[in-house]
Amino acid sequence: MVLLHTIVNYQYLLLIATCVAFANGENQEVLNGNGVMLEPVLLANDSDIIHLSNDYDIAIPQLLTPWSNTDDMLMTSSLGQLFVSELLTEEEIVPDFRRLTNQQRVYKTLFQKFGPMLATGVNFQETDEKLWNLFQSLEKTLYPWIHTSFKSSFDIAKSTNGAGIVFCVGDNHYAHAVSSIRALREVLNSQIPIEIFYIDEGDLSPANRQYFETKFTNVKTVDISQILDPKWTKLGGWAIKPFAMLASSFTEVILIDADVYFLRKPEDLFSDPAYLKTGTLFFYDRTILPNWTKGRDWLLSFLPSYSTQISRSRWWSLTSSHEQESGVVVINKSKSLLGLLSSCKMNAKKERDEVTYKHVHGDKETFWVGYEMTQTPYAFMKSYGAALGGLAREGDTKRVCGNQLHVGTDGRPFWWNGGLARDKNRHAEEYTEYTHFATGNNWEFTTNCIQETDHVYQTTPEEQHIVERFIQIDKVRKEEELMAKNGSVVNPK
Ligand SMILES: *[C@@H]1O[C@H](CO)[C@@H](O)[C@H](O)[C@H]1NC(C)=O
Ligand SMILES: *[C@@H]1O[C@H](CO)[C@@H](O)[C@H](O)[C@H]1NC(C)=O
Ligand SMILES: *[C@@H]1O[C@H](CO)[C@@H](O)[C@H](O)[C@H]1NC(C)=O
Ligand SMILES: *[C@@H]1O[C@H](CO)[C@@H](O)[C@H](O)[C@H]1NC(C)=O
Repeated sequence: MVLLHTIVNYQYLLLIATCVAFANGENQEVLNGNGVMLEPVLLANDSDIIHLSNDYDIAIPQLLTPWSNTDDMLMTSSLGQLFVSELLTEEEIVPDFRRLTNQQRVYKTLFQKFGPMLATGVNFQETDEKLWNLFQSLEKTLYPWIHTSFKSSFDIAKSTNGAGIVFCVGDNHYAHAVSSIRALREVLNSQIPIEIFYIDEGDLSPANRQYFETKFTNVKTVDISQILDPKWTKLGGWAIKPFAMLASSFTEVILIDADVYFLRKPEDLFSDPAYLKTGTLFFYDRTILPNWTKGRDWLLSFLPSYSTQISRSRWWSLTSSHEQESGVVVINKSKSLLGLLSSCKMNAKKERDEVTYKHVHGDKETFWVGYEMTQTPYAFMKSYGAALGGLAREGDTKRVCGNQLHVGTDGRPFWWNGGLARDKNRHAEEYTEYTHFATGNNWEFTTNCIQETDHVYQTTPEEQHIVERFIQIDKVRKEEELMAKNGSVVNPK
């Protein structure tokens, strides 16, 4: 296995010079074989961060102590061997997230030690043989699924490029995804490349795959089991989402649920200032179901240190049991690969069945919580989940009820989740209303209404026109579906 990248160019040398200049332990810059892998170092007093804090909640992590000669020496002692055994073993059935957090943090310090060496072709495999072996063994313990396609995590960033959208679509979500992608292409004129991930051969039928590949330009379907080893992931349902971001050929990824609709081009997210600063953009879920102490207790049970975001979170203040909405997640893998790997780990088979999904509802919270485990920076758009719909839906003229909406920093509707149906569960046959929206932090779980009477706004005629066109597209799709069904009865092959 040749892991050395012999290409040394001027840019790398410059960056090495930068590393040396900052060699006081605060620098966490990491290079990879194909360019630069920079996990940003954020300081609370940075003027950009102060400025961004009006519109975003930025998680400023605790810096991990870089790997040093003292650590090398410790490893040779009998006490060191005890630590090594902690790092390289795992529980047979129920994973211990405290151990997992520590394993991932040690992995990160080794990643940051070896990254610059790999990039410049330093032959460390002889001089640092034992430590490199430890890194590789630790990687096998933590992220065994990557080794089908990648020699090590350093290969992941190296083998990706560009920016695009990732959808996860099985036959169940096929119809939603067809309308959503048509909406992107035909209404918003978004031409950005799209990768559609499915779990395995049985998840998305060949006919449906062919439809995506032939009806649209720049849309590819990908069987994720060919990229990440299904032996450990055993994907099903939501769990595929972070793995699809990891497996995507794009370096910069917008993950979008099949039933999400945007009112502006999603690729605008790539120029979002908080995304540029941190390498992520996350969205908050609705404020619902308060007084839930389990989330706070859970975090305290396995995080030895945490970012500035924890004390701001609604889990902490007990105002909401839901924190993140993962209908849209934006990640720059060159900046925050280690955070994403950690989110994936929480969704691997054993971890999700025995721990993660026993604490939280699906993959949603595993993005920010995974980033806390590795102390990787992240950013939340500041506004909590809003409601898009109509007035007087439940007989009350002052409330807005409907689908979960997310507004941009300008306060206008950006995207919503839950598809075009008025209410997936109760009014699935009716199309959504979209005359009003409301922001606030008192979402009522039972009615899907926001009860904030002074934060109700009207949608503009332009916004209404966009939604009308989405609905038109969906009606056409339904007709085509019916015709296809009738056709197959009349002309059986
Ligand atoms: C910001 O904080 C860091 C570390 O806490 C400190 O070293 C630095 O001087 C501060 N910078 C400014 C501009 O206050
Ligand atoms: C993504 O991260 C890489 C590495 O830091 C950086 O070069 C690139 O500009 C980033 N992209 C954006 C849009 O911030
Ligand atoms: C949450 O706890 C507070 C304080 O104990 C209480 O006033 C409130 O009614 C509780 N809310 C719910 C929804 O249980
Ligand atoms: C499909 O067939 C049914 C009856 O078999 C008919 O009522 C319906 O109009 C047909 N739909 C289309 C779109 O052709």
